Amino acid sequence: MPSPEPLKRVLVTGGAGYIGSHVIYTLQTTRRYKVISIDNLHNAHPKSLDRVEQIARDALPADASEQDRDSTKIDTYTCDLTKRDEVRAVFEKYGKGGIWGVIHIAAYKAVGESTQIPLTYYENNVSATLYLLQIMNEFDCTRMVYSSSATVYGTPPVIPIPESTRLKADSPYGKTKVMSETILEDLCSAEPQRWRALSLRYFNPAGAHPSGLIGEDPRGRPGNLLPLLAHMAVGRVQDSKLRVFGNDYPTPDGTCVRDYLHVLDLAKGHLLALDALAPASTVFDNCPTDARYKAYNLGRGQGVSVLQIVDAMRKATGYNFEWEVVGRRRGDVPDLTADPLLAQKELGFTAPQDLETMCRDLWNWQTKNPWGYGEPSGALAPREYNVKTEANGAAKS
Ligand SMILES: NC(=O)c1ccc[n+]([C@@H]2O[C@H](COP(=O)([O-])OP(=O)(O)OC[C@H]3O[C@@H](n4cnc5c(N)ncnc54)[C@H](O)[C@@H]3O)[C@@H](O)[C@H]2O)c1
Repeated sequence: MPSPEPLKRVLVTGGAGYIGSHVIYTLQTTRRYKVISIDNLHNAHPKSLDRVEQIARDALPADASEQDRDSTKIDTYTCDLTKRDEVRAVFEKYGKGGIWGVIHIAAYKAVGESTQIPLTYYENNVSATLYLLQIMNEFDCTRMVYSSSATVYGTPPVIPIPESTRLKADSPYGKTKVMSETILEDLCSAEPQRWRALSLRYFNPAGAHPSGLIGEDPRGRPGNLLPLLAHMAVGRVQDSKLRVFGNDYPTPDGTCVRDYLHVLDLAKGHLLALDALAPASTVFDNCPTDARYKAYNLGRGQGVSVLQIVDAMRKATGYNFEWEVVGRRRGDVPDLTADPLLAQKELGFTAPQDLETMCRDLWNWQTKNPWGYGEPSGALAPREYNVKTEANGAAKS
C-alpha cells in the first residue's frame, strides 16, 4: 500500500471558540491535517479543545496508524493575535513553509458592543488580521480561509443575497469584516502567484456537535437568539419574557428573518474552502483578474423568523417561552437570507441539517452542560430545566 501523504499543518485562530472548535473537529475527521490552534481565551474555555481531541480520538478506527493518532492531537497556543511577538513565536516553531494554511476565525463579534468600543474592535479584528498576514508572508505561508459575515451586506437591496451585492456594513463590527476582506483581496491582487484566499460570509450558525461535548458557551449574557433561548430554558438567565424587537417588519409574521445553518455544516464549508486553496483547485479559474481571491456565502438560503425560532425551541426543549413585542432595535435588518448557490456550485457546499436538528443539538449540549464548560456539571442546580418529563421523552442529564 502506498504510504499516506504526510499531515498538512493548518493553523486555526480562535480555535477554542464556538465555530473554531467545530472547524477543528471537522478537519480532524479527515485525518489529513495537523491542527495548530491559537486562542487568547477571551471568549472561550481551554476545555473545548480537550473535548475536541476526545471526540476525534474516539472516532478513530481500531487499526488507526501512528499518523492518524497524531492528527487527533492539537498543538495549542494561548496567544493574543494583537501581539505580534507572540504570533511570530508560534510560526518560528514550525519554520518557513512549515504551516500549509491558516483558517482565521478569531474576532470579537458583538454588533452592539462594537458601536461602544469601536477602536477595540478595529484593533482586534483588523490590526490583528494585518499582523497575521504580515507574519504569514514572512514565513511563506500564503493560503488563508477567512471568517467573514453576512453583516458585510448591511441592509441588502436584494433577497436572497448574492455575493455580488455591494458591501455596506452598518456597524463597526461589520466594517471590520469588510476591511479585512479588502486587505486580503488587495494582497491576493498584489501577489497573484503567491497568495490565495477565500472569505466565507457566514449567515447564522446554530446547534452543536451531536455528542453534546462541544457547543456555544458565550461569556455573559448571550447576544444571539438561539443561545439566549437555550439559557432561558435551562434557567441560566432569569428573564421571564423574551423581548422581540419589532413585529412590523415587511416579513411574513412581521418579525426579523435570518438564515440559520448547522454549525457542523458551516464547519464543513471551511474544509471545502481549505481544500480549494490547493494548487490543483479550479475555483479561481473564473476570477475577473489574476487575483486568486473570492468570497462565498455560507447559508441554507431559507429564511426563518424570530417567532418560528421560538416555536422550534419550544418543541425541542418543552419550555413554554413567554415573549413580548418591544420596539424595533436600532441597526436590525428585516431579512438576511443567503443566496447559497455559488458556494454550492463551486465548493460543493451544502447545509442539509434543518432547524429542528439545530435546536435538538443545541438543547442536547445545553442540558449536558447547563453552565457551559466553566463549572463542573451538576455543581449548580439551575431551575427545573428538564421541563419535559420523562414521560414525554426528555433525557435527564
Ligand atoms: N457566531 C456567529 O453567529 C457568527 C456569524 C457570522 C460571523 N461570525 C464570525 O465567526 C468567527 C467566530 O465566531 P464564534 O461564534 O465562534 O465566536 P467565539 O467568540 O466563540 O470565537 C472567537 C474566538 O476567538 C478568540 N479570540 C478573539 N480575539 C482574539 C485574539 N486577539 N487573539 C486570539 N484569540 C482571539 C476568542 O477567545 C474565541 O475563542 C468570528 O470571526 C465571527 O465574527 C460568527
